[in-house]
Amino acid sequence: MTLPMVVRDPQLPSRVRIYEVGARDGLQNEKGVVPTEVKAEFVHRLAASGLSTVEATSFVHPKWVPQLADAEALFPQLADLDVDLPVLVPNERGLDRALALGARHVAVFASATESFAQANLNRTVDAALAMFEPVVTRAKAANAQVRGYLSMCFGDPWEGAVPEGQVVKVCRALIDMGCDTLSLGDTIGVATPGQVGSLLTALNTAGVPTDRIGVHFHDTYGQALSNTLAALRHGVTTVDASAGGLGGCPYAKSATGNLATEDLVWMLQGLGIDTGVDLARLTATSVWMAEQLGRPSPSRTVRALSHQD
Ligand code: HMG
Ligand code: MG
Repeated sequence: MTLPMVVRDPQLPSRVRIYEVGARDGLQNEKGVVPTEVKAEFVHRLAASGLSTVEATSFVHPKWVPQLADAEALFPQLADLDVDLPVLVPNERGLDRALALGARHVAVFASATESFAQANLNRTVDAALAMFEPVVTRAKAANAQVRGYLSMCFGDPWEGAVPEGQVVKVCRALIDMGCDTLSLGDTIGVATPGQVGSLLTALNTAGVPTDRIGVHFHDTYGQALSNTLAALRHGVTTVDASAGGLGGCPYAKSATGNLATEDLVWMLQGLGIDTGVDLARLTATSVWMAEQLGRPSPSRTVRALSHQD
């Protein structure tokens, strides 16, 4: 079979926007540095597969994430693409670099825990929020769309359980400073579906509507698809995923790849949910990328469809 049978569930949304993060979250975690031309071809192939949002790179400190130090060289090579190309910007320096190249969608990335704020941003949670505030204000003034990522929403490798109230507080701060949307990160892939529903309800209670919330699941414990289904049942329609299941986070112990986009598309197609993605084309892209990286894709769907097993 190359496509699942379709049985629609009327409780679920009819369309989902896949927010593809493979070129950023995936490649930032590679041991080697992928050549800029390969990255550019990867993003072009992802867009040609029907993905309408392809996170392209990060304008972070090049010493912190050397894998994405070529952002200035890469971004102009994507200028012909008619898809949204969000980029990560941690501070005003990053925003300046992104806006100078014409970026229209930027993302700041906060942490729900002090340990990860320190490891990833070299600051406390509050100091990181203070760093983002002028970034968000200036990005909005430049008519850019701003996403606020929040990491460690469901558990932290140093601190263990993360109180829901702590997560809600930082989400609220990101919305209050002007972020258009949020992405709830399960950075180390430990969440389970009940937690997802509970956090979404708590956010709604705190005045954050579901249509401003996306979900970002890593698949360390094999829970990413179940967690996604829980989010869809709650009404979420933006789901982050990474082609071929590439990914992780260089500053979080035990983070593995994101939910694989192909695994997500297989489930959504089976549920009759429109994504605009051509699964065969996307799978061919991940097989090609796996060849570039010299190891097979961890995605079950990529392996099944390409007979790599
Ligand atoms: P810092 O060392 O505290 O920086 O790093 P600073 O503000 O003290 O500045 C020190 C020097 O860095 C200065 O240069 C700055 O100009 C320069 P100097 O004056 O010494 O010559 N600098 C920069 N250069 C280029 N671009 C910049 C930039 N900023 C400062 N943007 C900083 C603080 C935030 C910069 C650093 O910690 C950093 O870059 N962190 C990024 C880490 C990262 O990218 N992590 C991965 C992404 S997050 C993630 O993967 C999670 C997510 O997927 C969701 C989930 O799964 O949970 C989103
Ligand atoms: Mg991530």
